Amino acid sequence: MSKTKALLVGSGAREHALADALIAGGAELYAYMQLFNPGIKRIAKKYAVGKSDDVAAAVKFAKENSVEIAVIGPEAPLAAGVVDELEKAGIKCVGPTRQLAQLETSKSFTRQLTKKYGIEGSPEFSVFTKENFSQAKQYITKLWGRGGCVIKPDGLTGGKGVKVSGEHLKNAEEALSYCEEILDAHRAVVVEEKLEGEEFSLQTLTDGNGGFLHFPPVQDHKRAFDGDIGSNTGGMGSYSDANFLLPFLTQEDVEEAKKITEKVAAAIKKELGIAYKGVMYGGFMKTAAGIKLLEYNARFGDPEAMNVLPILKTSFVDVCRAAAEGKLAKLNVEFENKATVCKYVVPEGYPDTPKAGKIIVPSVEKDYIKSLVYYANVEEKPDGIYTTKSRAVAFVGVADTIQKAEAIAEEAAAKVQGAVFHRKDIGTWQLVQKRVEHVKRLMGTAGLKLFYRPKGEPMKVAAFMSGTGSIVRKILEFQQHDLFSETKSSMTTGPVAEATWKGQSKNRESFKVVMIFTDTADESICNAKKIAEECKVAYYCNDIKAYYTKLGHNDRKDMKIRQQYDSETAKLLKMHKVDVVALCGYMSIITKPVIGSFLTINVHPADLRAKDSSGRRKYAGCMGSECVEKAIANGDKEIRATTHIVNEEVDSGQLLLVSKPVKLDTNITTHEYQQKLKEEGDWKIYPETLRMLAEGRFAADERGMVYLDGKNIPEGQEAA
Ligand code: AMP
Ligand code: GLY
Repeated sequence: MSKTKALLVGSGAREHALADALIAGGAELYAYMQLFNPGIKRIAKKYAVGKSDDVAAAVKFAKENSVEIAVIGPEAPLAAGVVDELEKAGIKCVGPTRQLAQLETSKSFTRQLTKKYGIEGSPEFSVFTKENFSQAKQYITKLWGRGGCVIKPDGLTGGKGVKVSGEHLKNAEEALSYCEEILDAHRAVVVEEKLEGEEFSLQTLTDGNGGFLHFPPVQDHKRAFDGDIGSNTGGMGSYSDANFLLPFLTQEDVEEAKKITEKVAAAIKKELGIAYKGVMYGGFMKTAAGIKLLEYNARFGDPEAMNVLPILKTSFVDVCRAAAEGKLAKLNVEFENKATVCKYVVPEGYPDTPKAGKIIVPSVEKDYIKSLVYYANVEEKPDGIYTTKSRAVAFVGVADTIQKAEAIAEEAAAKVQGAVFHRKDIGTWQLVQKRVEHVKRLMGTAGLKLFYRPKGEPMKVAAFMSGTGSIVRKILEFQQHDLFSETKSSMTTGPVAEATWKGQSKNRESFKVVMIFTDTADESICNAKKIAEECKVAYYCNDIKAYYTKLGHNDRKDMKIRQQYDSETAKLLKMHKVDVVALCGYMSIITKPVIGSFLTINVHPADLRAKDSSGRRKYAGCMGSECVEKAIANGDKEIRATTHIVNEEVDSGQLLLVSKPVKLDTNITTHEYQQKLKEEGDWKIYPETLRMLAEGRFAADERGMVYLDGKNIPEGQEAA
């Protein structure tokens, strides 16, 4: 089959990514570029250089080469009507006509459209021209008093014309005079309510026939420097996640944004009588009041295109053809479940005082970088690559997680030699967490799912044990202090007093151990029966060794048997209406039937936050004395205990509380030290964890991220 001849207009990194995607999808590439892009040049069959809004030159080049389909990168040629002229020449286009490109070129058009058609998600706004300008002052003052306003010129400004109160505008007077300034150059100015939230980009390809291809959402970073400071830029880098959400977005959020775009497309058709074809790139914001629409662009995002195109599994040529022919609904489009991080390397001084200069760009072949490399605004001279005044090269890491993708992009970006810089923080765990926390702060605890919702009676706990059960005694003792007005003497070794439930403790819900379960019938090893009798708690034993023997299995690692065993245990838990299972020196691996239905927690005699060089928890899987020995061998000066949620892998669940450090003391025996660690570590934080759970203070979101008092605690919380 002969290759599809495709025209690509544009010469940035976004277009380099589009060029790669077109070629990977089976196209023969004809590139019309404003600047020689060395990356595109290398892969194009033919190229021409000319001003990006010189429609006639682009169309001439397309006709000369009999291209079948055209993909337009930037907004300038769209605004100049390149699609109108290409279509007249019989060339199919991915991109809107000049009139439809108003979606981007006129902010007032888009805002008024959403208002007229009752499409939700718009901030409050007003459009002012010279005619009604006398009303602007009152409107700005009103918005200013309510949290601020945003002033937007009604026209293309290369992303630099928007000014936000608090950031670029100090007071209402400044906002007003900025409006005046705008009206000297533009027909209108849009004044709108300032929103607070996290921004994201949803790029959607529409075919004008009711078909939509929504790309995975991406988050761009506009500010020049690490920590979101410095001037606004064209975008310093961006990331997307393997699940096609973003860490601060739920599926519903993304669906909401898709719905808005689909409604806007329908509204355009009603309003103008013609359907929109091409990219509708929505700039959205997740706010406490839901998903809000900031603006549309009529093209792919730069850098956002570089996040979504490399993971497209379907041929991009097929996608473009379907979009141009109104057949997107018939095409099954797939993406790889990969996270991506894009980092832009820019000239020093960018964006305010960029200094052009020679750079050396690392390559996959010579420098063994794993990143994709997309050239942006650079010049290729005989002696090498030179930066211009804009973004220079983009590196894109593609991996299973955002962090891994970040490492790939960062490694490559850091290898560029020359007077350049890039943001090291984009895609890092810290920055992504900051985004998540921002959203959570705005949302309060709304949207979080509590692990346990206080019910006005104690939370019911089942203690699972296999040995001495000293921690069970401690929990019972704590429960006693916590809930009962009268307590008896220290119960570490003796019986826990028979006290009666006096109702809810003063300010909080609390917990009660309602059953003790053991997998060990041997009473010379296991104190479960003794403690249960002393404390008048229901006691159950199902000896694991006997269980396997009965079934004729000696391999105690056989997980099918283990699941069957746990199903029987789960019945007991249900019967006692248990809310939480607390493992207290329980030696069996615990499986789905229990952990899938009951929140199960454990305490570990080491700091589970500590990681080894491959990022794994250093002290996972070791027992008490092993932890101490390993810590000594590692040269640790102190040990902490950690409580955590139990999942199917040993010691890998979400951390809850981390104890204060217990100084390693080599003057005492390991055994004595272990006792000290128990007293200052395990015994303090385990009952405390149960109490905090009972108070409904731990919660998780849809992504399984855990919160304490509404604050995200990815690595647990140090105990008070
Ligand atoms: P726009 O070109 O409309 O996307 O605006 C550029 C940038 O200004 C956006 O990416 C936001 O950071 C900010 N912005 C635009 N509209 C608003 C708004 N209503 N509230 C807060 N920030 C805004
Ligand atoms: N990512 C910003 C833009 O493409 O406009």
